[in-house]
Amino acid sequence: MKKTMLRAWRFRMLCALLACLAPPITVHSQDQSGFISIDCGLSNDDAYMDKTTGLQYTSDEGFIDTGSNAKVSPLYQTTSNLQQLANVRSFPQGTRSCYTLRPTQGRGGNYLIRATFMYGNYDSLNKPPEFDIHLGVDVWDTVKIDNSSQVITKEIIHTPTTADYLYVCLANTGGGTPFISTLELRPLNNSIYKAEIGSLALVFRHYTSTTSTQELRYKDDIYDRIWIPSNLNNTTTISTSLTTDVNQNLFELPSSAMRAAMTPAAGGNFLELNWTPTDPTDEFYIFMHFAELEKLQGNQIREFNITFNDVPFYYRPVIPLYFRTNTIYSTKPKSSSHLTFSIMKTERSTLPPILNAVEFYIVKQLSQFVTNQGDVDAMLEIKSTYSLTKNWQGDPCSPRAYLWDGVNCTFDNFNAPILTSLNLSSSGLKGNISASFSNLTSLQVLDLSSNNLTGQIPESLAELTHLATLNLSGNKLSGSIPQPLLERSKIGLLSLSFNDNPDLCQNMSCTNKEKKTITAPIIASIAAFLVLLAAIGAILFGLKKRRLKKNLSNRADVQKPVYSVKGGLARFTHLEIMDMTKGLERKLGRGSFGTVYYGELKDGTQVAVKMLAPSIQGSEQFQTEVELLIAIRHKNLVSLVGYCDEENKLALIYEYMANGNLQTLMSGASALSWKQRLQIAIDAAQGLDYLHCGCRPPIVHRDVKTPNILLNENLQAKVADFGLSKIFPDEDKSYISTRVIGTVGYLDPEYHVTEQLNEKSDVYSFGVVLLELITGQVAVVKSNTIRTNLVHWVSPMLNRGDIWGIVDERLQEVHSPNSIWRAIDVAMACVKPTAIKRPTMSNVVTELKECLAMEMDVGIDGNIGDRNNDSDEMKPVIPYTAMAPRVR
Ligand SMILES: *[C@@H]1O[C@H](CO)[C@@H](O)[C@H](O)[C@H]1NC(C)=O
Ligand SMILES: *[C@@H]1O[C@H](CO)[C@@H](O)[C@H](O)[C@H]1NC(C)=O
Ligand SMILES: *[C@@H]1O[C@H](CO)[C@@H](O)[C@H](O)[C@H]1NC(C)=O
Ligand SMILES: *[C@@H]1O[C@H](CO)[C@@H](O)[C@H](O)[C@H]1NC(C)=O
Ligand SMILES: *[C@@H]1O[C@H](CO)[C@@H](O)[C@H](O)[C@H]1NC(C)=O
Ligand SMILES: *[C@@H]1O[C@H](CO)[C@@H](O)[C@H](O)[C@H]1NC(C)=O
Ligand SMILES: *[C@@H]1O[C@H](CO)[C@@H](O)[C@H](O)[C@H]1NC(C)=O
Ligand SMILES: *[C@@H]1O[C@H](CO)[C@@H](O)[C@H](O)[C@H]1NC(C)=O
Ligand SMILES: *[C@@H]1O[C@H](CO)[C@@H](O)[C@H](O)[C@H]1NC(C)=O
Repeated sequence: MKKTMLRAWRFRMLCALLACLAPPITVHSQDQSGFISIDCGLSNDDAYMDKTTGLQYTSDEGFIDTGSNAKVSPLYQTTSNLQQLANVRSFPQGTRSCYTLRPTQGRGGNYLIRATFMYGNYDSLNKPPEFDIHLGVDVWDTVKIDNSSQVITKEIIHTPTTADYLYVCLANTGGGTPFISTLELRPLNNSIYKAEIGSLALVFRHYTSTTSTQELRYKDDIYDRIWIPSNLNNTTTISTSLTTDVNQNLFELPSSAMRAAMTPAAGGNFLELNWTPTDPTDEFYIFMHFAELEKLQGNQIREFNITFNDVPFYYRPVIPLYFRTNTIYSTKPKSSSHLTFSIMKTERSTLPPILNAVEFYIVKQLSQFVTNQGDVDAMLEIKSTYSLTKNWQGDPCSPRAYLWDGVNCTFDNFNAPILTSLNLSSSGLKGNISASFSNLTSLQVLDLSSNNLTGQIPESLAELTHLATLNLSGNKLSGSIPQPLLERSKIGLLSLSFNDNPDLCQNMSCTNKEKKTITAPIIASIAAFLVLLAAIGAILFGLKKRRLKKNLSNRADVQKPVYSVKGGLARFTHLEIMDMTKGLERKLGRGSFGTVYYGELKDGTQVAVKMLAPSIQGSEQFQTEVELLIAIRHKNLVSLVGYCDEENKLALIYEYMANGNLQTLMSGASALSWKQRLQIAIDAAQGLDYLHCGCRPPIVHRDVKTPNILLNENLQAKVADFGLSKIFPDEDKSYISTRVIGTVGYLDPEYHVTEQLNEKSDVYSFGVVLLELITGQVAVVKSNTIRTNLVHWVSPMLNRGDIWGIVDERLQEVHSPNSIWRAIDVAMACVKPTAIKRPTMSNVVTELKECLAMEMDVGIDGNIGDRNNDSDEMKPVIPYTAMAPRVR
């Protein structure tokens, strides 16, 4: 009974996983479709089919527009070398040269990208170079060539997320001229070889071989992975004489790579794989492939445990299946100063462990902070319109050290770089000023001076609202200067130069002339003019009034505010504040707008006293707003007890919350249970719902985050600091990032762009809080050098169905996984980029309450606690063992 339940649950898990996978894309790898195989340096017409692999190689034509072709020295054009190595493309000019690959599946596809280098003394200098290879905007690796015959291969598995194309660039770092021999791209199935964050660069890929020294690749391998024969020390091999194929899983290994397996020599009972990374913070993924090759007798068992640095790597013993590949891999990256993977015979096993093939990858964290796509499109359009021969390759702004000529950008750690300056002076531009310039929406400087530009100055340039410098001098422009540009120049917002354009009408008069001719007929008589004036006045007046009214009804404060300021309003003097806090003795923390201290009222009530930053001035508005806030009472809002506004010494006195804030609580040692987390989420959601729906006019919190969710002694959550940004819209710069109020990681991306604030911005931030509760991560996930917003960290994992991958490892007891799945759905709905698509806080409260109900209704159904008790159910229900829930 229990087992069938468990199986049913697994089945649902599988369905849930599948439902999240991207729509299936058929990979016709058998027929090379989707393969990109470039024999770099090959002349244009010499495309060929490689005799040994059958792969179709083409020249670089259409992939790159710089560099020159060369043949390696005849010494290295040997028959033992691949034909692709006979020529190279080298890049003596420019610091960075990029190949643009356009895989057929575009962004979101999973690709194996491989670059091969053999120097072969192609330049007769006998000086093997050293240079960098970039993938997109990030350094992928350094290519260091030792001698002419050495063949270096760099391989990475990568999923582009922002663009449908990929750049592979070679960057001169001062160690000699970069070159490349071969560049290959292979589409992989989207469900395999996925890192939690980042891409996977190959360290090694080995298969067990009895005799052969033969590398395996296409056509044995439909993905054209290259398998090198290699056996561990002190092992023997077992192999099969059967000719039937070994059944494959999603990893689609070549059957020939699985036909032999290593096993410990001379009665040994374990196999061990060791790796010492050069940098102990490096992160690795291992993929081990097993298949039983011997037909076992009734009493024989082959069973083993896998450990990583002496802790279980896989949650239960493995029994390899007969002639069927079983892949076991890490779902989380492994990192240590020394990595040891052991495959150890269990006690009841009668046969030694085996290992057929193994792959080892290092995580490369690619920031993918590529320039905003609109800017890139406009720049490519400009490049092609003027047939620019500049070294404009790869991304315009990234990496920062390789800005395009004449381009400058602004960078921050969280957003795509933005192109802010373009200098195309003396660049031989001919023809009209392209409308594409107006698509560089953040441009501050545009210099088009000393070219041969003709025609009118497009009116659309005035749409560049950030433009501060526009230099059009030294061209052959005609017509007049658009009025808005002149006006902005007149009031000093724009430095405008247009001299040395003989045909350009240079002053206001030309534009004014046109205006006059239009308006003249209207003034037929003074009487008519006056009537008109009166009419306009009447219309304007009516309009203004109507607009005023509309504004009021929009804000919904035409109704009387429902706050009633009851008696008992506590107003304290500064002296009393000092008294209750014993002279600001115990600091509780720093909140927005000020520091919080512990205090006790005369009757012993504990309070938290927020001393507002001295920069904040007291005002009449402060007093009215505070009076309103004091009147707001809800069980999930931290209530204000009183305030002080004496001589610009401002303080707010709140109820005391014994368990501090949610951020501190979450980062503490004892993990909250799923039920507790759900309850906290519901509490906070209810508090926000009250601010949004229970208050007239609605109060938008503007800074929902875990530090602003406080917990009392019963772990009841209450939202703090609401309404403050209303009182002090522009104070305390340390807390306000630029002009937009809020905290990085929680900020509604739509608000960030439009600065239109509404309740849905709070919904977004709440979604991030909910994700923190689910994942145990913080709003900005830091790993090594990269900082990722939690939303961006979670989305790719969900997209590929790795639901368990995002759930907090410390969540020990989960009775209903479905309750988590549902909460994830709620969180993802809240963080939708478009505000109108987000639910309201009321919807959220309803949904979360249902999640809690599911979790409370503990059934045997969905009990994942005792997975280890089912060891007799070894044959995986799912043929891909790797897809089973990870070790928890
Ligand atoms: C070239 O360098 C590689 C790697 O350093 C080395 O294994 C190989 O023996 C060298 N070959 C020659 C001809 O020096
Ligand atoms: C991956 O392979 C499986 C099995 O061959 C197939 O069902 C699935 O559609 C493939 N997925 C993708 C994204 O290609
Ligand atoms: C195997 O042993 C040799 C010599 O004992 C050693 O140089 C080599 O590193 C070992 N290889 C592995 C994979 O342990
Ligand atoms: C392999 O066996 C030899 C002795 O037979 C031993 O000295 C050596 O340490 C072993 N190597 C490994 C990697 O276990
Ligand atoms: C293998 O792992 C199982 C469960 O993970 C454990 O109970 C057993 O003791 C292990 N056996 C050995 C020989 O390590
Ligand atoms: C780009 O702008 C920054 C900041 O304004 C400046 O420091 C830098 O020198 C500029 N770079 C180039 C290449 O003009
Ligand atoms: C553009 O570049 C030219 C020289 O390349 C320089 O003289 C000019 O000052 C630059 N324009 C701006 C606005 O920086
Ligand atoms: C400007 O951008 C819009 C949309 O982003 C695009 O439709 C239009 O073609 C672009 N115009 C030019 C001239 O590049
Ligand atoms: C403009 O074009 C003429 C001929 O077409 C050429 O002689 C002149 O150098 C060009 N001027 C600039 C500034 O490029």
